[in-house]
Amino acid sequence: MIREFFTYISESPKLASAKKLGHLAESISLLAREKRCQKAWLPHRTLCKSFITEHLSEAQHYDSVLVLGSGPLHEIPIEALARTFKQVTLVDIVHLKSVKRELTRFTNIKFVEHDISEIESALINGELLRKIPEAFLSQNWGLVLSVNIMSQLPLHLEAYIEKTFKNKFQKEDVETYLQDVTKNHFLYLKSFNAPVLLITDTVTSYYNKQNLVIQTDHNYAHLNLPRPATEWNWNVAPIPEFQKDVGIKMNVGAFVLKNLPS
Ligand SMILES: C[S@@+](CC[C@H](N)C(=O)[O-])C[C@H]1O[C@@H](n2cnc3c(N)ncnc32)[C@H](O)[C@@H]1O
Repeated sequence: MIREFFTYISESPKLASAKKLGHLAESISLLAREKRCQKAWLPHRTLCKSFITEHLSEAQHYDSVLVLGSGPLHEIPIEALARTFKQVTLVDIVHLKSVKRELTRFTNIKFVEHDISEIESALINGELLRKIPEAFLSQNWGLVLSVNIMSQLPLHLEAYIEKTFKNKFQKEDVETYLQDVTKNHFLYLKSFNAPVLLITDTVTSYYNKQNLVIQTDHNYAHLNLPRPATEWNWNVAPIPEFQKDVGIKMNVGAFVLKNLPS
């Protein structure tokens, strides 16, 4: 905790929402969680990296690759990307200094701090804005990756609404607003004039100490996602990481969105 506190005060993210919506604290705690859950997360991390590496041939050229939700790069084969593409652009709301330090040997990696949903500052001003993001669409990317961010986008918004605007909005408006965030991220990915690799958790299951599933949530019941190219299970919160007698597993889908004119 003390180490996390000092890391927190040493970081100076560009965007106000990085602190206000708890992204900075979450990015720091993700590093600690990854250490605790290393064994359970390794198969998932390896499968993400292999999926990306095996599908680099989908790129329409090797000048540039855009990575959305790069975070601590646990799931990104960063060396392979830096070797394969002339320019690698990593986008996240927070890039921790420790993550950047690890990559100083690569001269072709660029870090961009950006709100991928493009609606967080509106929320801070009390508005439930719905929009399909626009950043990066005008560039000619060889390949675009969205890696375990789609399901995460509504989480901080939901927590912020709960904390700051408890009775300001109708419950139904908040529900559709949060659903629209993932829908608009998917529409955003479909708008790139480049192939997109999307990795996201599609089903969340809660299980008890007897390993029996006690609740199942379908994250994208409101969306018509295509069939994944491949999928796997991720034991994301082995007991007692989430609760002392409840664990969480996810079904993760890896999709190839070709996005090219037919
Ligand atoms: C599950 S982590 C992804 C981990 C990452 N793919 C990796 O390889 O380690 C989700 C990431 O989404 C980022 N994130 C969440 N909301 C965001 C937003 N609105 N804009 C940009 N990044 C966001 C978080 O900072 C975090 O790094």
